Amino acid sequence: MTIQSDREQQIRQSWEVNADAWTRAIDQNEVASRRAATDEAIVQAVVRYQLRRVLDVGCGEGWLARALGKQGVEVVGVDACGTLVDRAIEKSSGCFRAIGYDEMIANPLIVGQSYDGIVCNFSLLGEEIGDLLRSLRQTIISDGHLLIQTVHPCTACQQQPYVDGWKTENFDNLGGDFKAPMPWYFRTISSWFQQVSKSGWTVVELEEPIHPQTKIPLSLILICQ
Ligand SMILES: C[S@@+](CC[C@H](N)C(=O)[O-])C[C@H]1O[C@@H](n2cnc3c(N)ncnc32)[C@H](O)[C@@H]1O
Repeated sequence: MTIQSDREQQIRQSWEVNADAWTRAIDQNEVASRRAATDEAIVQAVVRYQLRRVLDVGCGEGWLARALGKQGVEVVGVDACGTLVDRAIEKSSGCFRAIGYDEMIANPLIVGQSYDGIVCNFSLLGEEIGDLLRSLRQTIISDGHLLIQTVHPCTACQQQPYVDGWKTENFDNLGGDFKAPMPWYFRTISSWFQQVSKSGWTVVELEEPIHPQTKIPLSLILICQ
């Protein structure tokens, strides 16, 4: 196994191991940046673009699908982590399926088609995301939108060199019982732009939700068409 696929495997395994701790953290609204701005920002972006049928890629325990459901948006959520998908199904009557990105790349229509929106909310964690982004183009209508929310590179960089590379998330800021560290691939803003552009998407808008008090940038939202 290559180092690359080894890390991708570790990402998936970490979510299986941490699924219950993550579900508790989301239930108890423990992620400060999500509370402060990023949850509302992604919901409002979907509403602003008037998306009616959305594919939630890497949906986790399904909070976004539930939030969008309250706005009348039809959502299909997919995630590799069977435990998180089970939690999502328990929590709402929405449509959730355990499907990994590798399966989506091999068979893009496995997730359905004719979406007018696709959302990847903090769910693009690996280095090789081009094949997945390209496969998503087959599931969306011609003028549909892809919304990617990720940690803001300037804030996540934490005074380390501002270059792409692997980092490790230990979930230290969350009270729960996170047993497995998660590798994740840090990208600069220009690198996000290049990845998305070379996968056949055009970035039509960038948003940078900030903390309402400190004004620190919390996330980056790339809106693509
Ligand atoms: C930080 S969580 C975000 C979950 C959700 N989007 C949210 O906003 O709460 C990242 C999610 O990406 C999923 N994920 C990571 N790698 C994946 C892969 N290769 N295939 C499918 N899902 C994956 C994980 O299982 C996890 O649920």
